[in-house]
Amino acid sequence: VLKIISGDMEKMDTGCLIIPVCENQAIHDDPAVLKLTTAAKRFKEFKGKKGESLLLYDPGKIYAKRALFLGLGKFEKLNSEGLRAAAGRGIRQCIERHIPEALICAPLATVLKLQEEAMLEALLEGAFLGNHLFDRYKNEKKDKPLTQVSVYAKPDQAKAYGRLPARVETVCGGTVLAREWVSMPPNDKRPDRFSQLICKALKKEKIKITVLDANRLRRHRMSGILAVGAGSCVPPRMLILDYHPGSPAKAKKNKQTVVLLGKGVTFDSGGINLKPSTGLEDMKTDMSGAAAVAATLLSAARLKAGYRIIGVIPVVENMPSGDASRPGDIITSHAGKTVEIGNTDAEGRLILIDAMSYAVKMYHPDVMIDMATLTGACVVALGEKIAGVFSSDAALRDVIVAAGETTHERCWPMPMPEDYKELLKSDFADIKNISSSRWGGAITAALFLSEFVGKARWAHIDIAGPAYSAKDGPYCRAGGTGFGVRLMMEVLNRLS
Ligand code: BES
Ligand code: MN
Ligand code: ZN
Repeated sequence: VLKIISGDMEKMDTGCLIIPVCENQAIHDDPAVLKLTTAAKRFKEFKGKKGESLLLYDPGKIYAKRALFLGLGKFEKLNSEGLRAAAGRGIRQCIERHIPEALICAPLATVLKLQEEAMLEALLEGAFLGNHLFDRYKNEKKDKPLTQVSVYAKPDQAKAYGRLPARVETVCGGTVLAREWVSMPPNDKRPDRFSQLICKALKKEKIKITVLDANRLRRHRMSGILAVGAGSCVPPRMLILDYHPGSPAKAKKNKQTVVLLGKGVTFDSGGINLKPSTGLEDMKTDMSGAAAVAATLLSAARLKAGYRIIGVIPVVENMPSGDASRPGDIITSHAGKTVEIGNTDAEGRLILIDAMSYAVKMYHPDVMIDMATLTGACVVALGEKIAGVFSSDAALRDVIVAAGETTHERCWPMPMPEDYKELLKSDFADIKNISSSRWGGAITAALFLSEFVGKARWAHIDIAGPAYSAKDGPYCRAGGTGFGVRLMMEVLNRLS
């Protein structure tokens, strides 16, 4: 789908030439593009302000059938996210007009004070992600994704970054896969089916997949996972996705073992502590962490990453029934600690601690990162677009925050105060799965997890806000966002 091309602009054959434009500065130097931009700016409805757009048919001077100008606002404020968003908007407009193919004109990286690679990558990402539609459940498929999106660049750029489009397709392909899984209805992704979907997606890669079924979960004393899954007719699973790079030399060079964990609650009704009915349908997205981890492994394996990555994914459905766990139940977690279930709706942490202790015991990871739609409290704290990062390892936390700035999957550092651990005391067991205070729920959830990390460098990312979007964005439509895949790929690059 993606390509970087160069050539004589006047002769470029395309259904739609997309030209990003700033209001106060020329950001192109191609004479034909500059002339067209001047012509576009003569219309009073287009001055290059942020959000504006103007479509010209048979624009002249160039062979292209249409020219779509996109306003980017002031050039001093333009960053790679602005380019990502512009590319997404451009592709979206082409989809709506049933134009099957487009050419995006790359701006001058130097004017924008961006690295050439970052500039091209942002355009390619915005275009690829903006080209995704989730219409699997519609009989009538009104809109179709474009079959070809090219970025028009300088000849030396096209040569130097010839492999960039394929890499972006692989990474963003992971994001799109995670989006599809998150948006999928909960009746089609109960634990058995969701596990199968993951296995099927990873089948062709060099990834060793182990599926622990309910029997093996019992044998391994995964009582947290079993307790949460007890109310569903479909028993829980735990998936272990083990990626090892091809050559031993490569593996030796990088001795780090990274474990990624993802919360895989295919539907969170709350269990016996049943959730209120408003917004209950959104709880199909409670497996977003699992989706992001599985998709990250797929993308990393496809790119032949040079380090070992292990995904550990507990998959359960949290339902009320006669067999469901009750508030007041006490379980013995995989690590041996007893846990009082104060609230069956605080289920994410119960499945994650078993997965974490298992990972610690089996793999002795150097780094362990979990992603989970863990608390509504984190959404209250940071809103719907920013994730919370919790870690007692400041360096690891900073890597995640910095990676998030690059990919625009924003992560904000959150505190883990020792003294708040008191709030998790239980009268009867070693620890309780809910806090005795109404406040700071994202923090107490993270502190609960921290009791099960062993010696590994560990970080927890609460993605309850950004995993899902109720509204269309510039390069992501309403539904699952695939948050975490590009982020983890960037984190893994920075760790190795
Ligand atoms: N899956 C929810 C958290 C959530 C809320 C995700 C909103 C996405 C959007 C989680 O399992 C949950 O129910 N958390 C409770 C914890 C409470 C019972 C301690 C919450 O946040 O209210
Ligand atoms: Mn819950
Ligand atoms: Zn949940």
